[in-house]
Amino acid sequence: MAIERVGVVGAGLMGHGIAQVAAQSGYDVVVREIDQERLDKGMGRIEKGLARAVEKGRMQQTEADEVRSRISPTLDYGDLADCDLVIEAIDEDLGAKLQMWREVDNIVKDEAIFATNTSSLGVMDQAAATKRPDRFLGLHYFNPAQVMKLVEVARAVTTSDETFDTGVSFAESEKKLGVKTKDKAGFIVNRLLVPYMLDAIRAYEEGVGSIEEIDAAMKAGAGHPMGPLTLADFVGLDTMGSICDVMFDEFRERRFAQPPTLRKMLAAGWYGQKSGKGFYDYSGDEPVMNPQL
Ligand code: CAA
Repeated sequence: MAIERVGVVGAGLMGHGIAQVAAQSGYDVVVREIDQERLDKGMGRIEKGLARAVEKGRMQQTEADEVRSRISPTLDYGDLADCDLVIEAIDEDLGAKLQMWREVDNIVKDEAIFATNTSSLGVMDQAAATKRPDRFLGLHYFNPAQVMKLVEVARAVTTSDETFDTGVSFAESEKKLGVKTKDKAGFIVNRLLVPYMLDAIRAYEEGVGSIEEIDAAMKAGAGHPMGPLTLADFVGLDTMGSICDVMFDEFRERRFAQPPTLRKMLAAGWYGQKSGKGFYDYSGDEPVMNPQL
């Protein structure tokens, strides 16, 4: 089916970027949040991103205004009713996702496709909570969604050929690389990236290098744009913790287990960049290594 109107549930770190990319690609977008504060924050991020694009000469002001006008923020699931595609970008909490899908399934038109942006939870588990498991798939974006080229298009066992193809075409229509993958925890990228970041934490615990040394080494020695500990802070340590738990549960391998340092940081409420503190402290002009670690 032709996609014209896209619903995005969640306007957080991923949701606001997913909404912005869809609007920049010409889609009408409805973004739903649970409260006004979160909604305003997400819309503020989009507006800031558009202003930055204009400032850097990547977009004309008129185009930025058009993109903004295509996005309708809402607190009401009812506004998603006419969407052709609904992308979920809420917390990595299966219970919360299932509850959300049950509610949305009763509101959104029957022919619409549902997609989860989960990093690790089962696509099938979510599809089964709806009356449209054939029209359900994973569309996994990467942070920042406005910049990163990849969308993993994940197929649950019930996903129809038509839905899967529509997912790939949708990613391509956003000028993304849509890579097909199966409904396995972590898909392709997190299957490889998460154990890498966890190994960096273990290397730090073992004194192989300081936080800055580990990051600097991987940037200069492996050509990565960010070191692994900066990346962990950037992804969000809470998100990382949730992904680890799901992957450890699925594979039962030590490489997916949360290292003690990560556990302690999560207990302290240090979630990385988003909370102002993680492996680095972000309260000053430049991040500095967290002196409390
Ligand atoms: N929104 C829009 N544009 C952004 C942006 C954002 N949030 N962040 C950066 N950009 C743009 C900048 O405007 C800039 O564009 P121009 O070149 O046109 O000026 C460009 O990206 C580069 O940005 P910066 O110069 O500010 O900084 P940088 O060169 O260090 O790049 C980065 C920033 C793109 C984030 C880069 O560091 C990078 O690629 N890091 C790795 C990110 C990564 O691995 N992401 C995946 C994480 S895993 C995940 O998301 C999945 C999961 O399930 C956990």
